[in-house]
Amino acid sequence: MSSSFTSKMPNIETSIFTEMSMMANQHQAINLSQGFPEFDTPAFLKDKINQAISEGKNQYSPSNGLPELLMQIAEMIHRQYQSHLADEQKLNGLNNVTITSGATEALWVAIQALVRPNDEVIIFDPAYDSYEPAVELAGGTCRHITLNAPNYTINWLQVEQSINAKTRAIIVNSPHNPTGSILSESDLHTLQGLVEKYDLYVISDEVYEHMTFDGLRHESVLRYPELFNRSFVVSSFGKTFHCTGWKMGYCAAPNELMTEFRKIHQYVTFCSFTPAQIAITQMLKQQPEHITALASFYQEKRDVLVNALKGSRFTLLPSKGTYFLLLDYSAISELNDRDFCHWLIKEVGVAAIPLSPLYSAEQRQQYHKNNKVIRLCFAKNDDTLLKAADLLCQL
Ligand SMILES: Cc1ncc(COP(=O)(O)O)c(C=O)c1O
Repeated sequence: MSSSFTSKMPNIETSIFTEMSMMANQHQAINLSQGFPEFDTPAFLKDKINQAISEGKNQYSPSNGLPELLMQIAEMIHRQYQSHLADEQKLNGLNNVTITSGATEALWVAIQALVRPNDEVIIFDPAYDSYEPAVELAGGTCRHITLNAPNYTINWLQVEQSINAKTRAIIVNSPHNPTGSILSESDLHTLQGLVEKYDLYVISDEVYEHMTFDGLRHESVLRYPELFNRSFVVSSFGKTFHCTGWKMGYCAAPNELMTEFRKIHQYVTFCSFTPAQIAITQMLKQQPEHITALASFYQEKRDVLVNALKGSRFTLLPSKGTYFLLLDYSAISELNDRDFCHWLIKEVGVAAIPLSPLYSAEQRQQYHKNNKVIRLCFAKNDDTLLKAADLLCQL
């Protein structure tokens, strides 16, 4: 029977992360493709969630999240990003933070709150793949700007030239998936100048906020009160506490924006998983050292992989944050990146992510001419990283 159903999203295909993970399973390849940790969430967190469940804390929480958790998050933000600010400039947990079901929900809701039909949103390619569908379902379109390889920096002049009467928002992501680049203080000042000049808003995806390396500081939007006044800042406990399957995150925003965010959030999920909220509250309170140790934990993993790949024919690009490392394979193969990743899984036994699917269709052609780059995830046990590197060194 032929269907008369008209898709609202005819161009959406299975995400590249799902495609590569499925292929990795099928061919039993070492999976350095999808970005999730191979190691478990801390025992303390597991004990606390089990305890909450067995004590019967299994009903809805307040829609915004448990007040104690909101206040713990605010304290963490004050400590990490706002110690230089006067008290009245600091964010208030109860008014300015909402718990969401993963950063994905926070991004979705922030985009629905901001974007109106025919609005344009500037995003930077390669871009995490959930931004554009959310913008399009809100009736907007994305204006794609390519980051400058090999350091994947933003050309702010090009950003300013792309702003027009329809431009509503700019989505930034630092530390950046998939490239491992980070924004500098000067990037944030320029961003602030532009959004003030053209009356725009910012969605700042900071899910890898606690993972910057070599002493580099994460430049959170939360450090800059005037910029924060026009921003939604999004983070993920899944990344921070190695529990991506719990889908727990949050959004921070100034009063006016958060009021709009909460109107939508209450009809998307109403609230997020109560036992996880209780466990994460205890974790933030009693084991804050987990977060402060995260950067060095992942820096060591990065260095294990980088050192193990030193004898290979790949060119390694700088990874300043996240748990991703980019490899340029132009000395090894003429294949385009997707075909190269398929070949790597089948013939070598290692799964990676090609970057080209994270560029807009228009930019992909050009991209293929100039780039042969894949992404590896190093949130894995050392023996997994060493085994994968050993195979890659044989190419
Ligand atoms: C840049 C970026 N934003 C958002 C997310 C989604 O985070 P969550 O799993 O908390 O929804 C991810 C997950 O990989 C990501 O890499």
